[in-house]
Amino acid sequence: MTFKKNILCIGGGYVGGSTMAMIAHKCPHYKVTVVDINPTRIAEWNSNNLPIYEPGLDKIVISTRGKNLFFTTDIERGIKEAEIIFVSVNTPVKTFGAGAGMAADLQYWEKTARQILECSESSKIIVEKSTFPVRTAFAMERILSLNENNIHFDVLSNPEFLAEGTAIKDLEYPDRVLIGSRETPSGVKARNELIEIYANWVPKDRIITSNIWSSELSKLVANAFLAQRISSINSFTAFCEKSEADINEVARAIGMDSRLGDKFLNPSIGWGGSCFKKDIFNLVYLCRHYGLDEVANYWEAVVNINEYQKERFVRTMLSAMFNTLAGKKICLFGFAFKANTGDTRESPAIFIATKLIDERAELVITDPKALNNARIDLNGINGTVSYSEDPYEAADGCDAIAVVTEWEVYKDLDFKKIFQSMVKPAFIFDGRNILNHKQLFDIGFNVFPIGKPALTHF
Ligand code: NAD
Ligand code: UGA
Repeated sequence: MTFKKNILCIGGGYVGGSTMAMIAHKCPHYKVTVVDINPTRIAEWNSNNLPIYEPGLDKIVISTRGKNLFFTTDIERGIKEAEIIFVSVNTPVKTFGAGAGMAADLQYWEKTARQILECSESSKIIVEKSTFPVRTAFAMERILSLNENNIHFDVLSNPEFLAEGTAIKDLEYPDRVLIGSRETPSGVKARNELIEIYANWVPKDRIITSNIWSSELSKLVANAFLAQRISSINSFTAFCEKSEADINEVARAIGMDSRLGDKFLNPSIGWGGSCFKKDIFNLVYLCRHYGLDEVANYWEAVVNINEYQKERFVRTMLSAMFNTLAGKKICLFGFAFKANTGDTRESPAIFIATKLIDERAELVITDPKALNNARIDLNGINGTVSYSEDPYEAADGCDAIAVVTEWEVYKDLDFKKIFQSMVKPAFIFDGRNILNHKQLFDIGFNVFPIGKPALTHF
């Protein structure tokens, strides 16, 4: 079969794998190849056991793989063959040198840009899919212009807005697709080629364009706003606990204001995930770089409230359980940073588990999809931790349960049975407010929701 175009994606992670699977699924006339430096990841993409859990992803990978979707470690060949290259490598926070702990670590990105330069034999469109600091495209253009073979590269910014757990729905019905480009004739031509790909399934009015820097900045600002909204609602949970207001009632009341909307108002133990913190730190770093300290401090506070919220959850557990957790057995319901994913990157569960171990509690962790990652995250921790896929088995003999991830399955458990198997007094700390608190109290639990008065028997 001859294909209309060859698309390459460098970086086969959560974003690269899922976005390319969707493009392959919606555009059978394009050949889509995903390359990665990690051979295990590529082998998993080629197996029945995909490297990430994402509802609906396996179905589209299986239906396209080997037809117009390919996974390989042959990066050089991939670059040579491609007309359009998406760059979807990881952009973690720098852990060393200037900007350590704040700035984006661009080593993976720069290696990729240099490899594209070395291997290219023809002109190409380079699409920034990863979340990059503002003006990264400029640096990429400069590296790519070092070629001596008269090859032309157009760099576009096309940030990804999918959320894990709903990635396939987000990709199939995106709120918007954003493409940033230069307004030069070749920049506009490149932009139109990318629009043509998305137009195979995304309505035209949802494909928006901007200059490159606005596009890069919009991605960081979108994540900062989303995280800010959760930090904002979470900041009032402590207030509610003190004043006997109910955070869910407050969230409902403000969410019905159409100017505010009702999404992203679920109170929690704090937001996690691989991106919010790193992207806000990246923004804060850029603000300081431009001398905008007040703006930097404003956004840094969003992260500070999140740290406070995680700490507050553990402090509530400690004080409720008579100020000592030593030797007590605590079961964590969930370890993933949110439901419907096995991803534990920056999961609040890691912080909570570590703090509970510091208090010498024994931990039992249960999660439908994240136990392998939990084992890796807690490997070498100095304390007693065990794992069970079965929540009943996990809670058996425990003094307390802490709901860390909002998995649906936890709502329908037989809590009478669980209560009977636990040490008394039995505690539930619902870090996601997903359980029926009154019912749990009537069963005999001491119940500590987030942002609502506790229901206790003493
Ligand atoms: P990831 O760590 O899951 O995947 C990145 C992949 O790139 C890894 O498999 C790694 O081996 C590979 N890689 C690194 N350097 C490479 C190189 N030189 N050549 C080939 N492969 C290389 O990361 P991710 O979660 O997919 O995120 C990728 C980017 O997308 C980040 O910038 C992130 O901020 C952004 N993003 C992520 C999400 C999300 O939900 N995870 C959503 C939107 C945007
Ligand atoms: C987030 C954004 O939603 C995506 O648009 C973005 O593309 C992505 O980051 C990224 O750049 O990586 P993601 O982190 O996958 O997606 O998941 P979210 O649904 O945003 O949840 C993030 C965290 O906030 C989770 O820990 C979740 O439990 C928490 N959360 C979310 C709350 O505590 N309350 C809410 O109301 C919503």
